[in-house]
Amino acid sequence: MSTIWGERVIRDYAGRVCTVTGAASGIGQALSFALARQGARLALADVDADGLTETAEQARLLGAGRVYADVVDVAQRAAVQDWADATAERFDAVNLVINNAGVALTASVDEMEWADFEWIMGVNFWGVVHGTKAFLPYLRRADRDAGAHLVNISSSFGLFGMPLRSAYSATKYAVRGFTESLRNELRREGSEIGVTTAFPGGIRTAIVRNSRTPEGADRDDVVAVHESLSKTSAEHAARVILTSVRKGRTRVCIGADAKMMDLGTRFLGSAFEPVVHASIERARAKVARQAAKSPAEVSP
Ligand SMILES: NC(=O)c1ccc[n+]([C@@H]2O[C@H](COP(=O)([O-])OP(=O)(O)OC[C@H]3O[C@@H](n4cnc5c(N)ncnc54)[C@H](O)[C@@H]3O)[C@@H](O)[C@H]2O)c1
Repeated sequence: MSTIWGERVIRDYAGRVCTVTGAASGIGQALSFALARQGARLALADVDADGLTETAEQARLLGAGRVYADVVDVAQRAAVQDWADATAERFDAVNLVINNAGVALTASVDEMEWADFEWIMGVNFWGVVHGTKAFLPYLRRADRDAGAHLVNISSSFGLFGMPLRSAYSATKYAVRGFTESLRNELRREGSEIGVTTAFPGGIRTAIVRNSRTPEGADRDDVVAVHESLSKTSAEHAARVILTSVRKGRTRVCIGADAKMMDLGTRFLGSAFEPVVHASIERARAKVARQAAKSPAEVSP
């Protein structure tokens, strides 16, 4: 089956060779499990060796065809290239590439450290570019009937410039621009490779717990606000992404908040900003109320 643009979609994942970065946790782990359940063959990567081993072991139990797990830092161009070459050599093809690994940084432009800005660009933006360029030649060689597809994970903060997330938002806007340009390049050349940009809203994962914040910032508060705003599970996000690939969708917003962000920014422009500010304030007030209540709850 092909889309209106002539891309050959991946009809099912059984036997398909699928690569996932950031597979040790969150959305990447949920994608790995969902693909495993459908009999995909997997090439998984992460910097967290223990988490990656756990994902790989579980994926084998869930029915993955074959699983390779490699410790790869996506910010390192040569390491990603070596991983892509090794993956193509181990399997006969590469059908689905998901550039998912990502990190978060919560800091104002004033207080943000240069090193933290460079760190997040390295992982979230360069990591996606490295994965795309390293695997693209292998996707081009995939069998027509099996399909070839690239998914790059942006964010609803790649649709709206969130306060205290300037660096994160910059990486996610960059992922969006890079991926949409590539898709149009491929269309112009008549390529059959499908390309999807995913825009998750708040997903309940470890990303903010593992994020960087400026010295002295109240990390627990940042985590609590994110958790209060995150309504979607990683499993649901994975399901939506894999369905979008099968349907040949070019962009997918995950969760009601991401859909709202998409519509709000498109139709209201900057008039949408107070709506987002109000929802952040509501979440902060809820967290403050809960924090005020909890000492009373724990004391007899
Ligand atoms: N959780 C959310 O609310 C949310 C919202 C929008 C977009 N996203 C995006 O979804 C993707 C997955 O995030 P998640 O929420 O599952 O986070 P997570 O923290 O649960 O998982 C991210 C994984 O990436 C790995 N990773 C970090 N740096 C790496 C590197 N240099 N090389 C290889 N692996 C590395 C981590 O070890 C971790 O296993 C990210 O790109 C994130 O920006 C998440």
